[in-house]
Amino acid sequence: MIFRQLFEPGSSTYTYLLACPDTRRAVLVDPVLDSVDRDLATVQELGLTLAYTLETHVHADHVTSAARLRSLVGSKIACPEMDGIPSADIGVSEIKPLTVGTVTLKPLFTPGHTDAHHSYLVNSPDAVRVMTGDALLIDGCGRTDFQGGCAETLYHSIHDKIFTLPDDVLVYPGHDYHHCHVSTVGQERERNSRLGGGKELQHKVVDRMTTNETSFFRDIHPFEALRKSILPELMARRAAERQVNFWCGAASTGQEPYSVLMLIAEHFPELLKWDIKFIATDLCSEVLARSRAGCFSQLEINRGLPASLLVKYFVREGASWKIRDDLRRRVEFREMNLVKDWPSLPPLDIVFLRNVLIYFDVETKKTILAKTRRLLRPGSYLLLGGAETTFNIDEAFEREVIDKTTWHRVKQG
Ligand SMILES: C[S@@+](CC[C@H](N)C(=O)[O-])C[C@H]1O[C@@H](n2cnc3c(N)ncnc32)[C@H](O)[C@@H]1O
Repeated sequence: MIFRQLFEPGSSTYTYLLACPDTRRAVLVDPVLDSVDRDLATVQELGLTLAYTLETHVHADHVTSAARLRSLVGSKIACPEMDGIPSADIGVSEIKPLTVGTVTLKPLFTPGHTDAHHSYLVNSPDAVRVMTGDALLIDGCGRTDFQGGCAETLYHSIHDKIFTLPDDVLVYPGHDYHHCHVSTVGQERERNSRLGGGKELQHKVVDRMTTNETSFFRDIHPFEALRKSILPELMARRAAERQVNFWCGAASTGQEPYSVLMLIAEHFPELLKWDIKFIATDLCSEVLARSRAGCFSQLEINRGLPASLLVKYFVREGASWKIRDDLRRRVEFREMNLVKDWPSLPPLDIVFLRNVLIYFDVETKKTILAKTRRLLRPGSYLLLGGAETTFNIDEAFEREVIDKTTWHRVKQG
């Protein structure tokens, strides 16, 4: 079998090219729009004909090039039948594998990241490979907190469908953020810190996979917007008072507030001489205790923290890294349940309320947004998670795209 692993750095997506050496017919798994030229060049270089594109799932974090490739070279679009995509030419399922010449891709139903997600198992003379899409990643797994995700379902998919394969099956994920290329079923079963170690299913583990998910400089663009536009504008506007208040309303283990503080220390050190209040709250006392301690494992550090900031703002404590005390002490961590009565908060200039509204129904979202709005000073900025919006929920907000991020500001007048 001809096999190539291709990487698209913008979305950290792996695309896989598989082809039959006899018929020279090929299939591209999870092709990305940004990489059409590269993919076609690879197909041509290898003297192949692109017969199919095949998706593990349909999702917002990578835009498929399937339609574009079909219009350019006539390849057929294959995707999980249960996605019900009208433009698809072929639906695959566990009983409907996809075959190109001597190569057969056997679909394994692995929901949890999305409800129709499939992995693909390919048996060839040199190796058995499984392309796991956004279900199983190397030392990680796909997110489960939006677009039909479910942590418990994902846990079962991986344990029942992938971890039951032989140890030496090669695991090829749909994304990787740490320069890893391939793993094995045995290694992931043994070492995957999210899922492995032979642990029994415990709700605590499942909880960790979903509700407390966070990372340093998560989604990066909001932090770029803070640096380039928002903090300069805010500092100019509040130069007379020299007073600014921040609130992270679902701060989890603290990476979010500490990312903002490091950004300020790095680019706006003057602001640290102002009267700034930095409040970080969360429902969960366990994560608050961790935030307050400011200690992070190597794995947590690896997720999003640039080395230049690690050496500058952290000190080593055994196997962990602790944020410098002068930054740590600037954050006031408090327990606060967004759906109960709120304790008093000061007037706010910048609010992070990210990746938490997704857990609530519309009425609860409306109440939380209205309460937040009343705390915002005129001209303040509210940031929600990528899958969250004020649109159709609280129209007193207007939405403004600043440096690739949508910010929500209270309409004036
Ligand atoms: C997915 S994390 C988001 C962390 C961080 N904001 C980010 O985007 O990286 C969601 C956090 O919301 C917290 N949370 C869930 N329900 C809550 C509630 N009713 N009130 C306050 N926090 C809540 C959870 O404990 C968890 O730490």
